[in-house]
Amino acid sequence: MKQQGIRLALMLTSAMACQVYAHGPNETQEPKVPIPDKPGSMQDAPKYYEDVKPIFDAYCGTCHQVGGSAPFSLQDYKTVKAMAKPILRAVENKTMPPWGIAALEKHPVKYDLTLSQERIRQIRAWVEGGSQEGNPQKEGLPIALETSSIKHVDLIMTMAKDYQTIAAEQDEYRCFPIDFDANEDFYVTGFKVQAGNSSIVHHTSLYAFDPPYAGLVDTMDASDPDYGYTCFGTPTTPAYPQTPFRTIGTSGTQALDVVFPQNTGIRIKPGTRFVIQMHYSRVSANGSAGGSDQSKVLLQTQKQVAEPLEFIYFMNPEWLQPNIMMIPAGQKEVTHSFSGSLLDNLSSMSSKGELQLNKGIRIRGIIPHQHLLGKGMKVWKISADGSEDLLLDGVGHFTFGHQWIYQYQTAVDLLPQDMLKISCVWDNTKENQLTSSGQKLEPMDTDWGDGTRDEMCVAAILATDLP
Ligand code: HEC
Repeated sequence: MKQQGIRLALMLTSAMACQVYAHGPNETQEPKVPIPDKPGSMQDAPKYYEDVKPIFDAYCGTCHQVGGSAPFSLQDYKTVKAMAKPILRAVENKTMPPWGIAALEKHPVKYDLTLSQERIRQIRAWVEGGSQEGNPQKEGLPIALETSSIKHVDLIMTMAKDYQTIAAEQDEYRCFPIDFDANEDFYVTGFKVQAGNSSIVHHTSLYAFDPPYAGLVDTMDASDPDYGYTCFGTPTTPAYPQTPFRTIGTSGTQALDVVFPQNTGIRIKPGTRFVIQMHYSRVSANGSAGGSDQSKVLLQTQKQVAEPLEFIYFMNPEWLQPNIMMIPAGQKEVTHSFSGSLLDNLSSMSSKGELQLNKGIRIRGIIPHQHLLGKGMKVWKISADGSEDLLLDGVGHFTFGHQWIYQYQTAVDLLPQDMLKISCVWDNTKENQLTSSGQKLEPMDTDWGDGTRDEMCVAAILATDLP
């Protein structure tokens, strides 16, 4: 059922979705202090090679490199100088590097891309000092920043063929069953998304259906005569809404590698069916011509791991009912919160996979998920004595960072009697609406839903069993 008529109201976003419009509700603002147009002649101003190149290499280079996920490289003086003002604006507004959470002293996360105030000041001083080149022979020492990169590619999940996206549509979600069957058990320990056509790929997710549900994938696929099938919030079709699936990996435009905690992995058994879900967006491509794509997900695997890992979704199950998670049009700050036992509130679609869950879980990481009106998400652990421990402080820059799995340096244990609390904030005023054809859309009463203009509040928790 290739739907030619999916329009704005129906544009749906996946359970792991993200910002559809690069410059939508969170448009970058001008920096507060204007940058002088005339370069200063300050001798002692920071220089590119000596001072700021190491910052750009470490904090921007993973994405802003030739062939990287960002649209331009920031690895040579000429480009960086030409981009000096937008760079300063982006780092001062903290939209770049895309990160999206505030640092918590008690629960530091791995792979943190946050620029310190000192580094931001240095970039400003470099721009104000005329963006000078300096001496290539005196390049500053590289900044050692731990990045998440897979060590080996053991399996490639690739779309069987090119898919021609629908023309004149802004967004399209499509699921492609993968032709692969394992002949023995293995564990996924990391992944990397390789977009076939990065001008239209907005995000990619890899899901697995355990053997009891594997046959449904073919049934869903057969319901659509074209290659793949339309699937929105989940890798299922409306005819099979409650089918449990497992999330293996998801990545937005940032397309950075993800490596799971050491010696943990997601178990795959023979007979498991994999599905790649693609979200195609032409907005960033500035056109509606469509295009073709054949994307891949590269997997790092291991035969055995010490502890099986799963993504478990936490939210208020009642939010899915109509009129519960209402976000009225025009309101500046709307908050919905929920606390409860993780185990009592497992999403009906979320498979617990290999986990037993009886002794509690070890929280290894969290993916916060809201849509475009979202301004932040917090997640707490509430112990039996009522004490609250803030685990995640999502500050709501709904950019690429929000496809990210924030992994803890030290896992957080959640006992069966502990509860989780989740709280989301939204801004439903006109200023925070989607921009379509250069115009801000009118705010509308918003509720839970898969649509881009619907909202969600979900924490996908990366967990192992508590031993
Ligand atoms: C995780 C990947 C990633 C990292 C790290 C990253 N960027 Fe980006 N950046 C992107 C992507 C993707 C875009 C395209 C966004 C768009 O289409 O607006 C972008 C766009 C930009 C833009 C143009 C849009 C804007 O916001 O003005 C600037 C400037 C920029 N980045 C600067 C930087 C700088 C400076 C750093 C490092 C300090 C950095 N970025 C780090 C992914 C990244």
